[in-house]
Amino acid sequence: MIKETEKYVKDFHMGDSSGHDYAHIERVRKMALTIGREEQADLLIVEMAALLHDTVDDKLTDEVTAWTKLENFFDQIALAEDKRDAIKHILKYMSFKGGKNAGKLESLEGKVVQDADRLDAIGAIGIARTFMYAGKFGDIMYDPLIPPRDLQQADYREKTHAINHFYEKLLKLKDLMNTETGRAIAAERHEFMEQFVAQFKEEWQ
Ligand code: ADP
Ligand code: NI
Repeated sequence: MIKETEKYVKDFHMGDSSGHDYAHIERVRKMALTIGREEQADLLIVEMAALLHDTVDDKLTDEVTAWTKLENFFDQIALAEDKRDAIKHILKYMSFKGGKNAGKLESLEGKVVQDADRLDAIGAIGIARTFMYAGKFGDIMYDPLIPPRDLQQADYREKTHAINHFYEKLLKLKDLMNTETGRAIAAERHEFMEQFVAQFKEEWQ
C-alpha cells in the first residue's frame, strides 16, 4: 500500500516548482516517521498521510477533483474504511489556512504529520521554499511599505511579498507545534529564520 501511495504521490508532485515537489514529501515522510515513533503513533496512518498530505491542497490543485481521485485511489488499493477516515481527517484539517484550521486536527497521527510539515516550512529549507513559492505565484521579494496581513480576516491567496510570509505564518509556527519532539527541532530552525530576516532587512537598507 505504501509503495502504491508513493507512486500516486510522485505523479502528483512531478515538476512542481512552488516548494511542494516530491523532495518536500520525502522530507515530511521521514520527519513524520521519526516524530511518530517517538510519540508512539500508528505509523501506517502517519506514513500514508505524510505521503498524501499535499495532494488535496487548493493552492496546488482543484480540491474537488483531488478528493474524488483520492477516493478512487483508496478503492484501488482496497484501503479499510477506518484507515481511510483517519487519513482523510488529517488531510482535511492539517493545513494552516491563516490559522482558520486551529484546533480542528484531533488525532495524534495528524498532529505528528502536521509538525513534520511545519518543520519543513521553517529553517533554511523553509526560507528557500518561501522564495520558490513567491516566485512561482508572482509575488515580489519584499516591499517595506506593504505590511503583513491578519490572515484570519484576509484572503491568504491575495498577492503579498515573500518577507510578509515570515510574519504571517512562519515565525508563528514554533509556538504552534503539537509534540515535544517537534517543538525541540523547531526551536533551532526558528532562531535561524529570525537571523535571516534581520540580516535581510539590514542589507535592504
Ligand atoms: P500548509 O500545508 O500549512 O497549508 P502551505 O502549503 O500553505 O502550508 O505552505 C507550505 C509552504 O509554501 C510554506 O511554508 C511556504 O514556504 C510556502 N508558502 C505558502 N504560502 C506562501 C506565501 N503566501 N508566500 C510565500 N510562500 C508561501
Ligand atoms: Ni506540505
